[in-house]
Amino acid sequence: MKVLLIGSGGREHALAWKLAQSPKLTTLYAAPGNPGIAEEATIVSLDTEDNAAVVSFCKQEGIDFVVVGPEAPLVAGLADALRDAGIAVFGPSAAAAQLEGSKGFTKDICAKYGIPTGAYQRFTAAEPAKAYVREQGAPIVIKADGLAAGKGVTVAMTLDEALDAIDACFSGTFGAAGAEVVVEAFLDGEEASFFCLCDGVNALPLASAQDHKRVGDGDTGPNTGGMGAYSPAPVMTAEMTERTMKDIIEPTIRGMAESGHPFQGVLFAGLMITAKGPELIEYNVRFGDPECQVLMMRMRSDLLPILYAAATGGLDKLTAEWRPDAALTVVMASNGYPGSYEKNTPIDALPGEDAATKVFHAGTALKDGKLVATGGRVLNVTAMGATVSAAKDTAYAAVDRVRWENGFCRRDIGWQAVAREKS
Ligand code: AMP
Ligand code: GLY
Repeated sequence: MKVLLIGSGGREHALAWKLAQSPKLTTLYAAPGNPGIAEEATIVSLDTEDNAAVVSFCKQEGIDFVVVGPEAPLVAGLADALRDAGIAVFGPSAAAAQLEGSKGFTKDICAKYGIPTGAYQRFTAAEPAKAYVREQGAPIVIKADGLAAGKGVTVAMTLDEALDAIDACFSGTFGAAGAEVVVEAFLDGEEASFFCLCDGVNALPLASAQDHKRVGDGDTGPNTGGMGAYSPAPVMTAEMTERTMKDIIEPTIRGMAESGHPFQGVLFAGLMITAKGPELIEYNVRFGDPECQVLMMRMRSDLLPILYAAATGGLDKLTAEWRPDAALTVVMASNGYPGSYEKNTPIDALPGEDAATKVFHAGTALKDGKLVATGGRVLNVTAMGATVSAAKDTAYAAVDRVRWENGFCRRDIGWQAVAREKS
């Protein structure tokens, strides 16, 4: 099978690495790619924001299957354009991608199908939103409706913080994404990410992971795209997984099919495990980054046929096998991230790799044959271990062998699981 992978982050490097191991693969192409992906795939120069250009490349090269990594091309209808042209694609239609693209859309599905989630109201003006917040009190959560690169959410512990967040949204801090605001009840518990493949009708559970959204140790500082992750998440016991499938995922798939927009691709449920059980915080319609990196390390099955089944049907006939070991990834980012940072800083050395250690590239590039950091999140130093603590030790030993002066990372990735393992 000839496959084209769209994307250029650590998530796509992990997907490329895993796809490249498939006996069913003949050629793997990738665009825009990065130097890590280039070790697994032929990089093609292709404007991935131009749906017609992607379709015409696929026709010209006889591509059998396209795997879309990030959400932006999905929300922009790339999967629709490929499906219309008769090309199999892993990723939902633009209409189904609304599950990520619009928080209000997802909340309305939850309300219609009785899916457990925080109580909420949608607003298009500041004053009624503020009145509602005053009535509800703090803590409370303020969210820009649209895509805001993970930065459109304020968990306000005080009323003033909530009122300020409403003003920020409506004054254009998040651009068009903040034209509508969702105000949501604060959910108390432990967060987990849960991943599930869907072919429009059937759902195949994958695995769980935990992300670390704050930039600083001890979960302090501003939110980021994710500073590290591990899998599995111990809070996702067999019982919580079953409840998540039955109470959250399955009604969502049914609801999407009934609405005429069947969901095909990966459903990434951000969950809060509260005293009442799993509640939905949000959906994403693509793999998490860096959660994907730890899932791919743990996956024993061939990735290609299961992604292909999500795109073309028959997921009910497949299973996904996992290594029992834990995987943990530490994100190394450019100093200053998630604020502004210097670009093109040299990465002088990467650690050696073995069966238990792998470095995935995110924001890297080759300049005059030398590896440089071009993005905020740059490297994902990933390791396997019999426990999360063991995976953590191996990952940080590898981090300490990276020579990149302008880089930093959190030193406490995995702390929740490590604390459980010690207790
Ligand atoms: P989101 O972009 O919706 O995933 O939100 C970003 C982060 O804000 C989540 O990962 C949670 O840590 C937090 N968050 C979002 N919604 C809630 C909520 N209703 N209650 C508590 N924390 C929340
Ligand atoms: N790491 C969180 C995300 O990919 O949305």
